[in-house]
Amino acid sequence: MPSPIICPSMLSSDFANLAAEAKRMKDLGADYLHMDVMDGHFVPNLTLGAPIIKSLRKHTDAFLDCHLMVSDPGKWVPDFHSAGASSITFHIEVCPTPAAAISLIQQVHSHGMKCGVSVKPGTPVDALPDEVLRDVDMVLVMTVEPGFGGQKFMEGPLDKVRSLRKRFPNLDIQVDGGLALDTIDRAAEAGANVIVAGTSVFGAQDPKAVMESFRESIRK
Ligand code: DX5
Ligand code: ZN
Repeated sequence: MPSPIICPSMLSSDFANLAAEAKRMKDLGADYLHMDVMDGHFVPNLTLGAPIIKSLRKHTDAFLDCHLMVSDPGKWVPDFHSAGASSITFHIEVCPTPAAAISLIQQVHSHGMKCGVSVKPGTPVDALPDEVLRDVDMVLVMTVEPGFGGQKFMEGPLDKVRSLRKRFPNLDIQVDGGLALDTIDRAAEAGANVIVAGTSVFGAQDPKAVMESFRESIRK
């Protein structure tokens, strides 16, 4: 299994103090800062876009892992690149064909960013054929319906994590939604190594201990 990568979801941070929150998480051991971008169309919520990434980038050298829950990710790739995003993860559900996904991956890579692809809980793993996965740097298996923090962890999507881990022993497999001290072991056993967590990290008295405990569960 690849190394653990711990990604606090900044959706649960105090947006009015984003730079300070980013620094705090980095200092406490975060590997990536997970940035949830929502367009009010692909998901029923609005959050942030490239201008916020640009402002934050002036205050941190952290890896900014941008999760684009938007209907037309290709439209925003140049803006996120100029803003200083480190990676873009788009949803396979917005791609009409595997060829469309591959061309989006190429577009992201041509801008010098890493690229991930994500599946919602109801999307079967067959939506991610080998020809798509061999081009990506990471796959994100959602363990809640995208749109909001603080939802209950869904067990079902872990079957997709298991099957992906068998097919791709070295791929970074990210899980996002409801990850906490009581759910991390199930995700880690299934084969996830990249952990997004909002509520359980920002709501903790000791966020550093929570992130360390996630890391331990993956190393087990
Ligand atoms: C949900 C977002 C998540 C969210 C996770 O659509 O993609 O990143 O912030 O929040 P928690 O960890 O609270 O479930
Ligand atoms: Zn996310």
